Amino acid sequence: MSTVQEKIELMLKKKEHLMLGGGEKAIEKQHAKGKLTSRERLNLLFDEDSFVELDMFVRHRCTNFGQEKKELPGEGVVTGYGTVNGRLVYAFAQDFTVEGGSLGEKHAHKIWKVMDLAMKMGAPCIGINDSGGARIQEAVDALSGYGGIFYRNTKSSGVIPQISVIMGPCAGGAVYSPALTDFIYMVKNTSQMFITGPAVIKSVTAEEVTAEELGGAMTHNSRSGVAHFAAENDEDCIEQIRYLLSFLPSNNMEETPLVDTGDDPDRQDESLNTLIPDNPNAPYDMKDVIRALVDNGEFYEVHEHFATNIICCFARFDGRSVGIIANEPNVMAGCLDVDASNKSARFIRFCDAFNIPLVNLVDVPGFLPGVDQEYNGIIRHGAKMLYAYSEATVPKVTVITRKAYGGSYIAMCNRELGADQVMAWPTSEIAVMGPAGAANIIFRKDPDKDARTAEYIEEFATPYKAAERGYIDMVITPSETRPYIITALNALASKREENPSKKHGNIPL
Ligand code: HXC
Repeated sequence: MSTVQEKIELMLKKKEHLMLGGGEKAIEKQHAKGKLTSRERLNLLFDEDSFVELDMFVRHRCTNFGQEKKELPGEGVVTGYGTVNGRLVYAFAQDFTVEGGSLGEKHAHKIWKVMDLAMKMGAPCIGINDSGGARIQEAVDALSGYGGIFYRNTKSSGVIPQISVIMGPCAGGAVYSPALTDFIYMVKNTSQMFITGPAVIKSVTAEEVTAEELGGAMTHNSRSGVAHFAAENDEDCIEQIRYLLSFLPSNNMEETPLVDTGDDPDRQDESLNTLIPDNPNAPYDMKDVIRALVDNGEFYEVHEHFATNIICCFARFDGRSVGIIANEPNVMAGCLDVDASNKSARFIRFCDAFNIPLVNLVDVPGFLPGVDQEYNGIIRHGAKMLYAYSEATVPKVTVITRKAYGGSYIAMCNRELGADQVMAWPTSEIAVMGPAGAANIIFRKDPDKDARTAEYIEEFATPYKAAERGYIDMVITPSETRPYIITALNALASKREENPSKKHGNIPL
């Protein structure tokens, strides 16, 4: 009979073996591709020495195609919990060195377990994907595994933040777990997402495309909008995830973390008084406005490379996290289009679900005109912004820097969509449509058309008509905007608003 010491040694030996995953050769192969192993990734993600691994000894029970002879250490996925910036987080990381990180029944059950624990504990769940997809030998057991993950992703949505990280292949139905989560990170050159790969596409449609062109990090960050963040390598990606988590509460019942940023809440920035060009059609960079307003000029963009006519970012005002939605006059004059509507509506709903106040910076000339936009459903997609803002009960502060025309102004959260405080710069033009277009319609038969148009612009392309009606609360000097936003957010911290009781609404999808 073995002694206690021998039993402990046996356990340590087993663990040492399991910790090597697919073995040294497979690890070398992983490194040669520029990828870290699953445990290296998790150790970087979690605070030093905080990661606790679960289910290391779990083993598959497949006997098809000789699988019973295969050990598959850890079942091709490392799962557990630890702290990130001192706060509890759950995670799983697929281990490509073990049968390509493919997902079988027990692999899936390990993932289900950490997803369930994250929900019970009200902690974020992070999934690192690096896998050849369903383990083909396990057939319908693998399918069941994915189904259970999708179901949990959906039940967790809006309760805990869910972040997906693509650090290798993620193909076929496997893409739908990341797609159901709040944010997707992709690493340039080493990650791909697609429903069907280049070979299948060639055989079905005769289109020729590389895997990177079809589903690489920049394809999904700039073209499809499937991914929200792009990283240079695994290390950069993990650093970005830790940064994102610093803005978020752990669950929907928590307030956002307060951080001592050291920036003066009363700081005024004189550069804002000269930022807007005299020519109302000249562009400027809305990111300069954001930089001047937020704590230490620091913000983190979501979808930085997608629908760049609108900016969505996390930042802090006096240490409090906010979500900023801002038109970008530098790109398509800041018009709203299908992609911008989807991008911002999704961001607004994330912030609302997790108690993150919204700050809206408005310089919007309208919805983008065009046959293509109409055919692609700008009516349906634009409606998502109206819906998302109207439904959001978090504090909503709107600052109009210049144009605020027609329906697009409403879609950027005007008073009637529930903005709690609306401020306008003296350069604002709050109107039913662009003044030149409006004058063209009402004065088209007037012999003094030019003079009347100039009068119209002088009178209506201002913030004062809206201020006279109380549609905006105040007209302020641009340099005073930061202290005004912070005072408003402080006042709104106790905001209590509830939507009517319902099963759920029917956002125009
Ligand atoms: C079982 C798999 C596997 C899988 C990879 N492997 N994918 N085993 N099921 N899905 C194994 C390989 O056989 C190999 O084993 C090891 O993992 C490493 O794979 P390689 O091919 O050597 O690696 P690489 O050259 O880097 O290519 C990676 C790959 C390729 C592009 C992911 O492996 C691949 O195309 N795999 C199949 C992908 C696929 O068709 N999946 C769809 C499954 S159906 P050895 O023993 O040789 O080291 C599906 C439906 C899900 O996912 C539906 C959910 C709703």
